[in-house]
Parts: sequence; C-alpha cells; structure tokens
Amino acid sequence: MSRITVLGGTGYAGSAIAAEAARRGHQVRAVARKAPDAAHRLPDVAYLGGSVTEPVFLESVAGESDAVVSALSPRGPMLGQVRIVNAQLIGLADKLGFRLAVVLGAGSLFTEPGGPRLADLPSFPAAFKPEADEMAEVLSDLKASPAGVDWFAVSPASGFGAFAPGQTLGRYRVGGDVVLADAGGNSYISAGDLANAVLDEIERPAHRRARFTVAY
Ligand SMILES: NC(=O)c1ccc[n+]([C@@H]2O[C@H](COP(=O)([O-])OP(=O)(O)OC[C@H]3O[C@@H](n4cnc5c(N)ncnc54)[C@H](OP(=O)(O)O)[C@@H]3O)[C@@H](O)[C@H]2O)c1
Repeated sequence: MSRITVLGGTGYAGSAIAAEAARRGHQVRAVARKAPDAAHRLPDVAYLGGSVTEPVFLESVAGESDAVVSALSPRGPMLGQVRIVNAQLIGLADKLGFRLAVVLGAGSLFTEPGGPRLADLPSFPAAFKPEADEMAEVLSDLKASPAGVDWFAVSPASGFGAFAPGQTLGRYRVGGDVVLADAGGNSYISAGDLANAVLDEIERPAHRRARFTVAY
C-alpha cells in the first residue's frame, strides 16, 4: 500500500486515477480547489481543498506521499501556472523523495519517428495548442531535472478526453514518444485504462525518468 496524492484529483484524468488507486487499496488523497459534493465523492479517497499555486499548500500536500500524481490541466487561469507548479513539484520530489507522475497530453507526441509533433501539425486544433505547448515544456523540465528525481510522465492517446469517456477494458498498449494508433488509425484510451497504466507504473516501475504513451 502506497500513499498516493493526486493533484487535480477531481478532474477527468485525476478522478479516474484516484478511483483506481483507492480500488487497489492505496491510501489516496485528491487535491483540488473545490471538493465534490457528497454524492460525487469517491469512497476511500480523502479530499484536500486548496490551490496548488500556493507553494506552502503544495509542499504540505506533496509531503507524506510515496507518489504524487500531477493531473492538472493548463486551461483558464491555470494556463501558464501548470508549468510553474510542476517545476515546484520537481524541486519537492528532489527534496522529499516521492515519485512524481505527470499526466501530459498527446500533443507532445511525434506523429512518426523523427517526424513532427502532433501539436505542430496544421490540422491540430488551435484551441488546444497553448495547452499542448505548456505540457511539452513540462516534459522538457522533467527531462532536465536533477538525476535523483524519480519521475515518469504519461501521454494518453490523442482521442482521450471527457468528450469520449468510453469503458474501462483492463488492457492497453504502451508506446514511447510516437502516437499509438490501431490498424484503423484510431488513437484512443479511456480514463479508466489511463488510470490502470498510471497505477501499474507506480506499483511496478518500468519507465523511470521517461515519458510513455498508452492507447488501445
Ligand atoms: N487527448 C489529450 O491529449 C488530452 C485530453 C484531455 C486532457 N489531457 C491532459 O491530461 C491532463 C489532465 O487534464 P484533465 O482534462 O483531466 O483536467 P481537468 O478535467 O480540467 O481537471 C483539472 C483538475 O485540476 C484541479 N485544479 C485546477 N486548478 C487547480 C488549482 N489551482 N489547485 C488545485 N487543483 C486545481 C481541478 O479542480 P478545481 O477546479 O476544483 O480546482 C481538477 O480537479 C492535462 O495534462 C491535459 O493536458 C490530454
């Protein structure tokens, strides 16, 4: 049993990760500015309310954790803030020794080996470009972190998102830095199976200081 803290633990990715961590018997804390109402709280998850942009609060919630999952999205007022928060998490992971897991986007994946990044294609939706670019910067910061920082990052399939929740199938394929698609060209993963991939990596580390992608 590990102590797992999920930043953004009420969001699309974060709530699925918190739910799967609790289902597996870990001690789970979900952090968000606003806790869900009683009817929407996950059993066996402790909710901590506050803003991760407050460094003292961030250190207090990251402390006493074996793993901290950063499932924050750089949207609205968090645009420009998520990179800063993750940089602070890198420093805290170095100081406190927890494993840092970051949920990135698909935009920073390459379309083919040596090819362009998905977010650099003309077809990539302009509305998602700032988010994709910020999460790519987070990945650069992770790669440049001190050697003692034990981090991993996961990019979901490009079709991942609240617009397409799907089913938890209990299986997924793992790739590296290139978008994973099926034979029909579809790149998709449900929140439940993204959560399975994150928890599998926390329980059985296979990607230390690396980013990987997951899709069906
Ligand atoms: N296909 C794709 O590539 C794709 C699609 C979707 C998401 N993603 C990526 O997945 C990651 C997570 O995205 P998501 O869609 O799951 O996010 P989301 O649903 O927007 O959830 C964000 C979470 O962060 C919390 N939060 C926001 N600001 C906060 C603050 N200042 N302090 C504490 N908590 C705060 C929110 O709760 P409160 O508002 O109550 O604070 C919520 O729990 C991001 O990196 C995103 O880019 C990728």
